[in-house]
Amino acid sequence: MFKDKKVVFSGVQPTGMLTLGNYLGAIKNFSSFSDEYRCYYCVVDMHAITVRQNPAELRRRTYDTLALYIACGLDPEKNVLFVQSHVPAHAELAWVLDCYTMFGELSRMTQFKDKSAKNADNINAGLFTYPTLMAADILLYQAELVPVGDDQKQHLELSRDIANRFNGVYGETFVVPEAYIPKTTARIYSLADPTKKMSKSDENENAVIRILDERDVIIRKFKRAVTDSGCEVRRGEGKEGIMNLMSIYGAVTGKSPDEIESEFSGKGYGDFKLAVGECVADALCGVREEFARLSADKKYLEEVMARGAEEASRAACRTMSKVRRKVGFTDRADVR
Ligand code: TRP
Repeated sequence: MFKDKKVVFSGVQPTGMLTLGNYLGAIKNFSSFSDEYRCYYCVVDMHAITVRQNPAELRRRTYDTLALYIACGLDPEKNVLFVQSHVPAHAELAWVLDCYTMFGELSRMTQFKDKSAKNADNINAGLFTYPTLMAADILLYQAELVPVGDDQKQHLELSRDIANRFNGVYGETFVVPEAYIPKTTARIYSLADPTKKMSKSDENENAVIRILDERDVIIRKFKRAVTDSGCEVRRGEGKEGIMNLMSIYGAVTGKSPDEIESEFSGKGYGDFKLAVGECVADALCGVREEFARLSADKKYLEEVMARGAEEASRAACRTMSKVRRKVGFTDRADVR
């Protein structure tokens, strides 16, 4: 059913509860690809262990993330939904790619620098080679398009460099992937500090809208959102808070900034914040209900995982056998 379609790949870590930023910036758009592309969406549990995790929690969040994918509209019949550690080829290719990635390149990754500053007592090798595992995720499936938030742009660039380098040495092996960063919603900012990205791991819960937050919590968080001392709902210098709320409102309702400005002309920040809170709560309400239903059905989620891993393995094995031949590994008895 997927023959000859171009490939989309994306991954989400099963850590922290996903935010409105993840939803508007990425997951909500994922479902629009499935008619045109063969889509792989992966819960990247192997990336998650680059920082210390509580095992029981990691396991639960892996189920939760899968349930959330489906609740956000990704139909497992139309998309390959799977868990990274269920397809060992990710680790296998990551090792090979490690040998075609330079120490200097990895040292320049801003996310590595940030994370090492935050986890000074655990700057492990996995944290350092995180981007080659990510390149392996993408290149294994010959993905053409990779929807990500713009904080992942540098990793995507590196994946392209690795693919080009490998292709240059061994001839065409990998499709060189392209980042897909939705323009309007690439960045949803923190409600407490609108110059910072809304982050899953923010310690200030008021800064973050979680996809599974209750309606009244969502409305309250928007009410408290930091804005400037003015009172007009319009774009402008020093109005990052209002502009962030405008882009959230726009992403949910489909309205343009001009339309939003005229809708709220003459109204104050209070009315606007309430409107944003209500529209977000409405949009997430269905997701929350569907999530509750799915996360109670572990058997179903396990079926989806198993089917996804099988589909993904098939594609991954094709790429791996090419790679093995190119680098000069001898044939394995089971694939000879
Ligand atoms: N690093 C990505 C993030 O933190 C997650 C990720 C892992 C990913 N592998 C990927 C995203 C492959 C896109 C493609 O957001």
